[in-house]
Amino acid sequence: MIDYKNPKLILDSSNVKEGKISWQSPSNIALVKYWGKHGIQLPRNPSISLTLDEAHTKTFMSYSPKKNLDVDIDLDFYFEGQPNQAFANKIVKFLSGLSEIFPFVKQLKFKIESENSFPHSSGIASSASSMSALALCLCTLESDLFGTLKDDKEFRRKASYISRLGSGSACRSVYAHAGLWGTSGSIKDSSDLYAIPYQDEIHKIFKTFHDDILIVSQGEKAVSSRAGHALMDGNDYAAPRYKQANQRLHRLLAAMKSGDLETFGNITENEALTLHALMMTSNPAYILMKPNSLEMINRIRNFRADTGHPIYFTLDAGPNIHLLYPDNIYFDVKDFIQTELVPLCENGMMIPDKVGLGPLQL
Ligand code: PMV
Repeated sequence: MIDYKNPKLILDSSNVKEGKISWQSPSNIALVKYWGKHGIQLPRNPSISLTLDEAHTKTFMSYSPKKNLDVDIDLDFYFEGQPNQAFANKIVKFLSGLSEIFPFVKQLKFKIESENSFPHSSGIASSASSMSALALCLCTLESDLFGTLKDDKEFRRKASYISRLGSGSACRSVYAHAGLWGTSGSIKDSSDLYAIPYQDEIHKIFKTFHDDILIVSQGEKAVSSRAGHALMDGNDYAAPRYKQANQRLHRLLAAMKSGDLETFGNITENEALTLHALMMTSNPAYILMKPNSLEMINRIRNFRADTGHPIYFTLDAGPNIHLLYPDNIYFDVKDFIQTELVPLCENGMMIPDKVGLGPLQL
């Protein structure tokens, strides 16, 4: 079992330099969903996601020797150019929790600036991109200060582990194309502690797949993901759900390997509706979909039935629709998207996205 606690990662305080590290990291969209957790951010079932491209966070981390010894973590945090105390408090808590893994965080003063390419709390998993960007900055910082983590596989595995501690789904964002998280019997190297790359196991059609994000509502979600995960503990359907997720994962991976879009779409849509069904069967029950989410789902299914085009939807823990389709039908579906779906979006807002190459050091 991996244990990243490392008391040796302490700086010689007479020789601490200043520096700046920046990463851009994407959001991801789960196909088999992670919903329900235990322990320290450990998943109740394995999940797989496609890594996005357009929807990302840029994080700029400057560090210098810490002067204010009265505080545990010395941080100034700016979100989209403005000081943001609420986010700063969350990050201080996160960094403080990492002090056995990265003891040097208590020896430095940090200025962290972060910006998203998409609206915050729009149901796009901002925590996935922001926590992975921050984790990547911290691993690069360790590497720069101590000469560790030179091997890319080792670097990403640790970045994925640290991302997971910030937000479970974030651990899948550190890989190009696709990431798989959660121990699954027949999948080599799979782990609950970090995600593994999955790009080599999928048909090339998925590497240029589209995921247009149709913003049904930009409002803050009524129930956070954190609260949603917690409600799974009392959900009567929890045990069969975790079993189902394992079975679906295996069927989905086989379809993704062969490029079987019909099976891929069928499982992906069922997963999205299952996620929302679990919310509707929680106690208290809640509904995050909006009337326009359902209208879009009906229109997508009707268009698919009428034309035979392999265009499918999925949902995150929010009302927005992710529209999934292969690049080779882009010209056949773009008018449908513009005339039938975009008018149902809040202020006509859609973020056209695609499967991407993963994080980028800036
Ligand atoms: O990473 P969290 O705790 O925000 O949970 C996200 C869960 C879903 O986005 C709904 C599903 C998933 O696997 O990403």
